[in-house]
Amino acid sequence: MLVVIKESSKQVGQEAARIVANSLRANPKIVLGLATGSTPLGMYEELIALHKSTALDFSHATSFNLDEYLGLAPDNPQSFHYFMHSNFFSQVNFSPDKIHIPDGAFRKDYSAYCDEYERAIKNSGGIDLQILGIGRNGHIGFNEPNSSLASRTRLKELTQETIEDNRRFFPQGAEIPECAITMGIGTILDARRILILATGKSKAAAVAKAIEGPISSSVSASALQLHPDVTFLIDEDAAYALTQRDYYRRVLELTKKYTPEKFQ
Ligand code: PGA
Repeated sequence: MLVVIKESSKQVGQEAARIVANSLRANPKIVLGLATGSTPLGMYEELIALHKSTALDFSHATSFNLDEYLGLAPDNPQSFHYFMHSNFFSQVNFSPDKIHIPDGAFRKDYSAYCDEYERAIKNSGGIDLQILGIGRNGHIGFNEPNSSLASRTRLKELTQETIEDNRRFFPQGAEIPECAITMGIGTILDARRILILATGKSKAAAVAKAIEGPISSSVSASALQLHPDVTFLIDEDAAYALTQRDYYRRVLELTKKYTPEKFQ
């Protein structure tokens, strides 16, 4: 696991975009796993800037988003469909038929729908690079505490903490969805490479538990310790509670020196 600590959230966005852009240039048909939320916004802004300034080409790439609120139609401004289109897809040359986001429509058979999402990921060749944020409770995607570490895409009930954290995105008085469709932790762990972003003091405790705590379904992100190619890209505030910060900095320097291909 690489832990990369940047001075500011802006630098986290720039570094994340650099990694995505390099991966895309190396493999134009890359399959990306994408995330929503405040944290990856800086990365999307940088990728849009790179698309405009260097013609970074997304036209052959495929994407699968992590999750969507249950009951929100794609044109609902609070839906993750809307977020992705307004903050990213509408401003780059992603091919609409290669974009996949779980559909939050109410339906009868969620299991069949979620199995189909899993099949689509598999049929695309699997996710090459998965982008993640992390919740204050350690969730990745909407895998709330006590999610099975082997879970696949499914309907998930949101904790009250997550509902309150996300209230800021909804108009005052609006009802917040109580469930979501989310990739599972098993789905995420199948990605070839994982890049998880965290910024701000409010994430420091979750980041420390994920990196230095025991693997536990109480902190979904701790499951990333099982994956052979994970980079935590975090700012100083989010790194605040880590006990081995100096060691992580040294690991990064030595990785760049001896195995630079691991940090493209
Ligand atoms: P945030 O959400 O980026 O808006 O903080 C992260 C998450 O809950 O996964």
